[in-house]
Amino acid sequence: MRILHVGASGTVGDAVGRALRARGHDVVAAHRKSATHPVDITDPESIRELLAGLGALDAIVSTAGGTPFGPWDELGRDDFRAGLDNKLLGQVELVRQGTEVLRSGGSFTLITGITAREPVREGSIAAAVNGALESWVRASAGELWGRFRINAVSPSVLTESRADYASIFPGFPFVDGERVGDAYVRSVESMETGAIYVL
Ligand SMILES: NC(=O)c1ccc[n+]([C@@H]2O[C@H](COP(=O)([O-])OP(=O)(O)OC[C@H]3O[C@@H](n4cnc5c(N)ncnc54)[C@H](OP(=O)(O)O)[C@@H]3O)[C@@H](O)[C@H]2O)c1
Repeated sequence: MRILHVGASGTVGDAVGRALRARGHDVVAAHRKSATHPVDITDPESIRELLAGLGALDAIVSTAGGTPFGPWDELGRDDFRAGLDNKLLGQVELVRQGTEVLRSGGSFTLITGITAREPVREGSIAAAVNGALESWVRASAGELWGRFRINAVSPSVLTESRADYASIFPGFPFVDGERVGDAYVRSVESMETGAIYVL
């Protein structure tokens, strides 16, 4: 399959890109600093420019987007907006515009995260964004039924990110990037829609 992968250069993106390529897929790797396929998902025009130059796609997968972390009392409206604009609305816009270029029956796979169901200290914005995304994916699966599939992958902290996140997720189980890659392969190659792959 020909797959657009947004957020390909990150930690999660690296694991997912390897898994998709190992399955023989033709993966177009995009992210903000990409020399060949730059895109900023917070900017709808940037998404439009990327999609316009790609031709037909069988799947669009995202491992992009971040949310601010910080003490509850110090996270203000601007922080909240930053998280919404980036990880939530960025991925939503990718899907909205993606429906115009994806072949009929193609799939979308988005990234969420464990804070959707297991809150951590300083992670209130991540919890709100991931929870909203998962609800939106479930709702969208119904509305896109028969035209496109859509799923989300909701991992715990990756083993590969242990050094960065261990203090925010004390005692949480880590998940190997390989398992996260497998979940993306399942989403892309299966017939499933509306699934949240909890890892
Ligand atoms: N790492 C974990 O343990 C873990 C666990 C659960 C969920 N997640 C989620 O997985 C996602 C990726 O995490 P990560 O640890 O892989 O982060 P990362 O290493 O910082 O990678 C982020 C990736 O997304 C791209 N990116 C960031 N903002 C973008 C934007 N506005 N438009 C387009 N591309 C953008 C980055 O490339 P450029 O900087 O070049 O744009 C990079 O390719 C996040 O949403 C995170 O919440 C991560």
